[in-house]
Amino acid sequence: MKVLVIGSGGREHCLAWKISKSTLVDKVYVAPGNSGMADVAECVDIGPEDFKALAAFCQKEGISLTVVGPEAPLVKGIADYFQDRGLVIFGPRKKAAMLEGSKVFTKRISNKYGIPTAEGVEFGQEDYEKARDHLNGLDDKSYPKVLKADGLAAGKGVIIAGNKKEALSCLDDLLLRKKFGDASKKVIIEDFLSGYEVSLLCLYDGESVLPMDLAQDYKRIYDGDKGPNTGGMGSYSPVPFVSEALKEKILEKIIYPTCRGLHSENIRYQGVLYAGLMICEHEPYLLEYNVRFGDPETQAILPRLKEDIVPYLLDTTKGTLSKKNMVWEDSRGVCAVLASKGYPKSSSRGDIIEGLDGHGLEDILIFHSGTRMDGGRLVTDGGRVLGVVGKAETFTSARKKVYSAIEKIRFSGMQFRKDIALRAEEA
Ligand SMILES: Nc1ncnc2c1ncn2[C@@H]1O[C@H](COP(=O)(O)OP(=O)(O)O)[C@@H](O)[C@H]1O
Ligand SMILES: [Mg+2]
Repeated sequence: MKVLVIGSGGREHCLAWKISKSTLVDKVYVAPGNSGMADVAECVDIGPEDFKALAAFCQKEGISLTVVGPEAPLVKGIADYFQDRGLVIFGPRKKAAMLEGSKVFTKRISNKYGIPTAEGVEFGQEDYEKARDHLNGLDDKSYPKVLKADGLAAGKGVIIAGNKKEALSCLDDLLLRKKFGDASKKVIIEDFLSGYEVSLLCLYDGESVLPMDLAQDYKRIYDGDKGPNTGGMGSYSPVPFVSEALKEKILEKIIYPTCRGLHSENIRYQGVLYAGLMICEHEPYLLEYNVRFGDPETQAILPRLKEDIVPYLLDTTKGTLSKKNMVWEDSRGVCAVLASKGYPKSSSRGDIIEGLDGHGLEDILIFHSGTRMDGGRLVTDGGRVLGVVGKAETFTSARKKVYSAIEKIRFSGMQFRKDIALRAEEA
């Protein structure tokens, strides 16, 4: 069969790579993809939100399965559009994608179904004065507070305000100056939770939940979690300091109640249900849901899946996932992202990339995010350029592999973190 992956980053390259290994699959397309994916897929020049052209392509080419990478098309209803035309697509319909598309929606579901999450209050644009009063009424000890834009804001909609002054000015940005347009028509002001973060990605078909191995990602640009936030500078999987008992607790207290809640609300969900969690003194709290694979978590998780992923994806779309566990390698996966000069403030394009073939190492995978071919040479084409993934028996040797592969790769202004999975190595 033929499969189409929608999106163009490292996550999509990794998905296309894994799907291309399936014995069920003859050909993989990626729309729009990037030229670095040519090893596993054919790129199709259609944007991820051009539903009409994407569906027409699937009909013409006889695509049996479409897998959606990014959140925006899901939140805008690509699954509804495809399914209404009889096309098979992996990812939730618009109503279910609200779990990522609206933080207010998720907070309401969490409160209604007893899912542990930071205590928060929602305010709409019409409640601006009330929101100010709320912040003004808090004493200094109540800070930091977390302000969240309701809708999609490309990972920039959450602000941690250290004091009242910051919180008020951030509130003005969101509600008054509509910094994120419609996405900040509503905000949530919630308590700050301290602990450590983990990501649990599950396959969910509306009936059965299949949790994957846990992962951790690194959002800040510099080592030691310093500097501004990025789309993600690295990841690793599994997470050695999360015990089986804690994982079970995450399922029992967060994932299963969410699934039951969606049922009660008559919302059918199929796709990846990805919980962003804060663990505070061994207790999990839900920070957010995402409705798709994570980038770069996917790159550290999927290469460790021993089995063909395609039957899982198909079963998810059909509601026939069985309760058996996915089978993972007993390996450690590490992904370090190479970013271009100026990232995350800006990104440099057109810098020549060298040394991709020269590492000579086994169990190294290189996934392309922001690259393009220019006159026969591979050049940078975005903020996050490449993801270098290594697998080994221990985190120590996986990290060694990743960083020796990176030593061979060069482009002007290349940035990467040297501490990816260091804490897992030390655990
Ligand atoms: N209540 C909270 N307490 C502490 N940190 C938080 C809280 N909510 C969010 N964060 C931090 O902000 C980051 C982004 O928030 P998240 O809810 O994941 O939104 P998004 O990924 O859409 O930007 C989280 O990964 C976490 O580091
Ligand atoms: Mg997040």
